[in-house]
Amino acid sequence: MRTVDIIEKKRDGGKLSPEEISFFIQGYTRGEIPDYQASALLMAILFQGMDEEEIASLTDAMRLSGEQIDLSRIAGVKVDKHSTGGVGDKTSLVLGPLVASCGAKLAKMSGRGLGHTGGTLDKMESIPGMRIDLSEEEFIKQVNDIGIAIIGQTADIDPADKKLYALRDVTGTVESIPLIASSIMSKKLCSGASAILLDVKFGSGAFMKTLDKAKELAETMVKIGAHLNRDTRAILTDMDEPLGLAVGNSLEVKEAIATLKGEGPKDLTELVIKAGGIMLEQAHIVSDHKEGEAKIKAAIDSGAGLDKLKAMVESQGGDVSYIDDPTKFKMARFALEVKAPESGYIRRIDSLGIGVSAMKLGAGRATKEDAIDMASGIVLAKKVGDYVEKGEVLALAHTNKDDYAEVLRSIADSFEIGKERPNERPIVYGYIK
Ligand code: URA
Repeated sequence: MRTVDIIEKKRDGGKLSPEEISFFIQGYTRGEIPDYQASALLMAILFQGMDEEEIASLTDAMRLSGEQIDLSRIAGVKVDKHSTGGVGDKTSLVLGPLVASCGAKLAKMSGRGLGHTGGTLDKMESIPGMRIDLSEEEFIKQVNDIGIAIIGQTADIDPADKKLYALRDVTGTVESIPLIASSIMSKKLCSGASAILLDVKFGSGAFMKTLDKAKELAETMVKIGAHLNRDTRAILTDMDEPLGLAVGNSLEVKEAIATLKGEGPKDLTELVIKAGGIMLEQAHIVSDHKEGEAKIKAAIDSGAGLDKLKAMVESQGGDVSYIDDPTKFKMARFALEVKAPESGYIRRIDSLGIGVSAMKLGAGRATKEDAIDMASGIVLAKKVGDYVEKGEVLALAHTNKDDYAEVLRSIADSFEIGKERPNERPIVYGYIK
């Protein structure tokens, strides 16, 4: 087989066989196929697309490029959840403990934030002592003992994706649904769960800007899962305004704790109830997701979800006293008020603007090597649909930096205020299974 023939076939709109796809993935991962040929093939895929079978073959070849986590020593259905990334997305820290408290097994590998999107691992590390680097043995034991573990990805998982993602980033080939879907799903499949719920976000703060694009990506990933015998489902959720009120690591952990106590923001609470209901159905704990939703609500009311978060934190070496008393989380030096320039209804809060501003306050990284400041970020005082008077506080900006003036302006600019009250928007727009 010759790489150039594979490139030409795809360039001319042909269908690649599983053997050709596997030849390319293996050759590229081993360094035998150079970046320039891989770039040409990626660009041909971006223009010509791939059909369902090709995407499934690509996903499987990527999955097989490195280590697989063997979860067979954990009894029962192992559920996993993945978000395509957003602003203020602390869902895993609430949803994970809730589904585990209802009897599901959640063995989850999470990522770090980059750019304007946050990562669950960084949020977890804002709890002093918290370990995210458990060995495979420790990971499996913890899920068997308490039903939940959330850790970082081990180095040897999906090396094909690591190389391809870096190449796509610099060759203008990120925005291809077959490439995004195979990248996400290959990593999920490596981590061994039998059932996967995908939270595909759309809107200004998300990777997919429109509902249509999010739906296309979600349907593609659900089909890949079906091809590879995993119960894969997806929800389409709104990221046109940040999720909840808090954006920034320890600020989001505090909001996750409040939500587990039943005192969280409405959108986040609704999202975890809906997603949790589906995951309990996937775990065969309930026979339909509505019954699952009732169980999740009960786990919030009884405090069982909060107890499960504490058990996870304790088991991963974290200081549980911070969960009992969230005022222990260190605050940033400044909590600066951003005020409304006029009276009216909040019509829109640009997630991207808020995400980038939080990053500039110290909550995120511009490059992988940047350190983050756990205490900094933004807490919204208003959400879309709320009425504000001129001069009322829209948000608090928490930072340890002195040069915040421009960021405060961009936070204010992220709020669109108008005379007309906007229509109420649901958080979940669709469910695909
Ligand atoms: N997230 C991934 O893991 N891969 C992509 O290609 C896009 C988002």
